Amino acid sequence: MATRLFEGVEHASLYDKYRPTYPQQLIDSITQFMKDNCKLNDGFESAVDIGCGTGQLTRDLASSFKNVIGVDVSEAQLQCARDSTMNKHNIVYKFGDEQNIPVDTSSVDLVTCAQAVHWLDFDKFCEEVDRILKPSGCLAVIGYSLPKMYYQGKLHSGLNRLFNELFSGPLKPYIAKQTDLLDNRYHDLKLPYNINRRDDSLVIRKDTTVTGIVNCASSYSHYQRYKKDNPDKKDPLEELKLKMTLEVGKQLDSTDEIEVTTEESIFLLLAAKNSEN
Ligand SMILES: C[S@@+](CC[C@H](N)C(=O)[O-])C[C@H]1O[C@@H](n2cnc3c(N)ncnc32)[C@H](O)[C@@H]1O
Repeated sequence: MATRLFEGVEHASLYDKYRPTYPQQLIDSITQFMKDNCKLNDGFESAVDIGCGTGQLTRDLASSFKNVIGVDVSEAQLQCARDSTMNKHNIVYKFGDEQNIPVDTSSVDLVTCAQAVHWLDFDKFCEEVDRILKPSGCLAVIGYSLPKMYYQGKLHSGLNRLFNELFSGPLKPYIAKQTDLLDNRYHDLKLPYNINRRDDSLVIRKDTTVTGIVNCASSYSHYQRYKKDNPDKKDPLEELKLKMTLEVGKQLDSTDEIEVTTEESIFLLLAAKNSEN
């Protein structure tokens, strides 16, 4: 069964501001797979991004594909995506879900689903993907891990421990079962079609601050659910920020931002549809 957790306007805005964007190598890895395995007559015509959110991957696709459609069940996410995509004229955003993707049969070269497939009914999603893909089209499913934190160039065990304690502590009861698939890097997903490949070599690397990490965590669905149920309890992210500040030895009243680098590891699953229907 599909699950909906990203419907709120405020949540969409946090998502848009703070969630990671993808490196160019991700698009390169997808298009290389398509060149090697998909005999598409018209090249890179059209891509559809399911669960597009505020358009993180959709916008990147627009540089390689003539027409791109972002599809999501959240009107709030779609509105943010439209607002952030003013200058890209080859993207449209449409309301839809994995069971009703609003595009014609056999019309699409590439279907992507980034950091969203665990929320979908996977079997129904694959049926719809098969309907809309052209023969020899490509399906790309993308996810990424929780961040690892580096301080002054080194992996920092204390910062990472504190961050992980958030999920084994206050947020634990609010973690949806569906995210197990993500935690296991989508190893439990079997993509359709005979030609399949995985790429685990890519990372999202970002120079940020402790505040940036906490802001990004505020867009996680578990935190949003926690806040909804516990409006009067201490905010676990405010506590996390204080603990992280102490961990690297700064004074609590310091106004300096603590600079860190984060790395999320990407997992990319690719499949090429058979050339004959
Ligand atoms: C974690 S966000 C991922 C957003 C973006 N693709 C990215 O890479 O950051 C998951 C998105 O999936 C959408 N979603 C959840 N269930 C869906 C469904 N059944 N059909 C389409 N989109 C769905 C949510 O509204 C949300 O925008």
